[in-house]
Amino acid sequence: MEVFTHKASTTNICSFFAFTLLALLLITTPLATAKVHSHHFVVSTLSSFNFARSDIQIQSTPVKRLCKTHNTITVNGMYPGPTLEVENGDTLVVNVVNRARYNVTIHWHGVRQMRSAWADGPEFITQCPIRPGKSYTYRFTIQGQEGTLWWHAHSSWLRATVYGALIIRPKQGDSYPFPKPHRETPLLLGEWWDANPIDVVREATRTGAAPNVSDAYTINGQPGDLYNCSSKDTVIVPIKSGETNLLRVVNSALNQELFFKVANHKMTVVGADASYLKPFTTSVIMLGPGQTTDVLITANQPPNRYHIAARAYASAQGAPFDNTTTTAILQYETSATCSHGGKCTSSKPVTAVMPAFNDTATATAFTTSLRSPRRVENVPQKIDHDLFFTVGLGLNKCPRGARARNCQGPNGTRFAASMNNVSFVLPSNFSLLQAHQQGVPGVFTTDFPARPPRQFDYTGNVSRSLWQPIRGTKVYKLKYGETVQVVLQGTSIFTAENHPIHLHGYDFYIVAEGFGNFDRRKDTAKFNLVDPPMRNTASVPVGGWAVIRFVADNPGVWLMHCHLDVHITWGLAMAFLVENGVGELQTLQPPPPDLPVC
Ligand code: C2O
Repeated sequence: MEVFTHKASTTNICSFFAFTLLALLLITTPLATAKVHSHHFVVSTLSSFNFARSDIQIQSTPVKRLCKTHNTITVNGMYPGPTLEVENGDTLVVNVVNRARYNVTIHWHGVRQMRSAWADGPEFITQCPIRPGKSYTYRFTIQGQEGTLWWHAHSSWLRATVYGALIIRPKQGDSYPFPKPHRETPLLLGEWWDANPIDVVREATRTGAAPNVSDAYTINGQPGDLYNCSSKDTVIVPIKSGETNLLRVVNSALNQELFFKVANHKMTVVGADASYLKPFTTSVIMLGPGQTTDVLITANQPPNRYHIAARAYASAQGAPFDNTTTTAILQYETSATCSHGGKCTSSKPVTAVMPAFNDTATATAFTTSLRSPRRVENVPQKIDHDLFFTVGLGLNKCPRGARARNCQGPNGTRFAASMNNVSFVLPSNFSLLQAHQQGVPGVFTTDFPARPPRQFDYTGNVSRSLWQPIRGTKVYKLKYGETVQVVLQGTSIFTAENHPIHLHGYDFYIVAEGFGNFDRRKDTAKFNLVDPPMRNTASVPVGGWAVIRFVADNPGVWLMHCHLDVHITWGLAMAFLVENGVGELQTLQPPPPDLPVC
């Protein structure tokens, strides 16, 4: 099969033969496409008509923002990178060439990657990094997902500038569960440092202190008209009176939850994280890093220019944050001042009144409004693994022999973060998935605890003796098809804050959220097992908890982590190891031949 596949991709006759054979297999035995080898076969053979192929170059590009030019790591010289547009069921083959001076990997955030964990992308989890000068081809099929996802570098803090939208439309013949919008606009909310972001995280790692906060937020790479030297490049989103358009909003910021608003306009939320939602109307949405929200907006206001704005939802008391506001402009095309495509720099946009930075009530009102469009039949009811994970910060004592300048965290410590008191350490010579698949010993252990080693008042005044986590590369093992519930319990160690917890390779149902300590007796009764929203990133409320459920139906090693990059740097992560089930359909594909080695 292997040899045949290679030939098929190099000669036309062979590929015609291969195609015919495949077509026959498809007609006669529906399961034939699911075989591991024929899957690779399908990808290489159907290339002429069924998948998009992109070569992407990671390179350094001069980018000028906030009056200064930086040599910025980009994809194909674009910031943000290219938007990928596919239909549900399509296969993507993306050859990533690394021409930068850093190791890089690309993660397809939210793509389920059924059996294709090798294409997931987090460095040292499912692959070793692509070294400078090397390349790797990601191949994966998008199955049963529609809406907005995105892709980003998953190596150090490179995703600050290496990211882009991934738009999944219904397949031909299918339609949106809402009236077809006139236009669709992806709006990627980003975070910009007037510095090299890699230097920012390296400095923080050296000192043990919190990294510098960003200097600007951006919408599609542009800070907007409230920042120096940025006004003329502000992103314009055109709309015609009466039109209803779809905004695909992505929080691609590194370390900040954001409120998002359009001045004087209501939004109808129709989807999040590439799952549809029961539509509801709101004037503000909140997104944690990693999350996406699709909203419809109708031009039902007097023709004018209106700010589209995002700024911080900063839930951690007393912690420094970037308090600036990024803007784009919703511009009515019929506006007298901005006649047809003309520039109307004269009229000042109507400004958006944003929620207060610490407006947890508004954030909660939003997250608790999300519902699946209808009753969902597949929320796991019987739970095989009832897990309780604390998520939060910690402080490491200054290591013996370390200098004061390396312990500039609070009271001469170094910042840490953990789940169930384990501060996650990435391996360095194998990826977890390789180690698992090849049975390499000593790379990880399978003793990630199902519950915190000690029970305490998680959101109360936590004793100092519980502030120091242990380090480890621990995974939690699941058998194929088992059902899982995880209570994600925030802690107030050092400070409580909202954590956007992202699980790779899965969508999960968020069946409940609340404040304080999760109380099994009281809170279980509040679970929504009827129409809970499905997401890939859950906002765990500040000083509170969220409960997620999923079925372990995708074999591989799947990282679960806080999507605030500073927290993943400090160790707020763990991984699930999901074993293969029975037969090809429940088995991880073999690793691609060009999988980078460490
Ligand atoms: Cu959006 Cu582990 O990532």
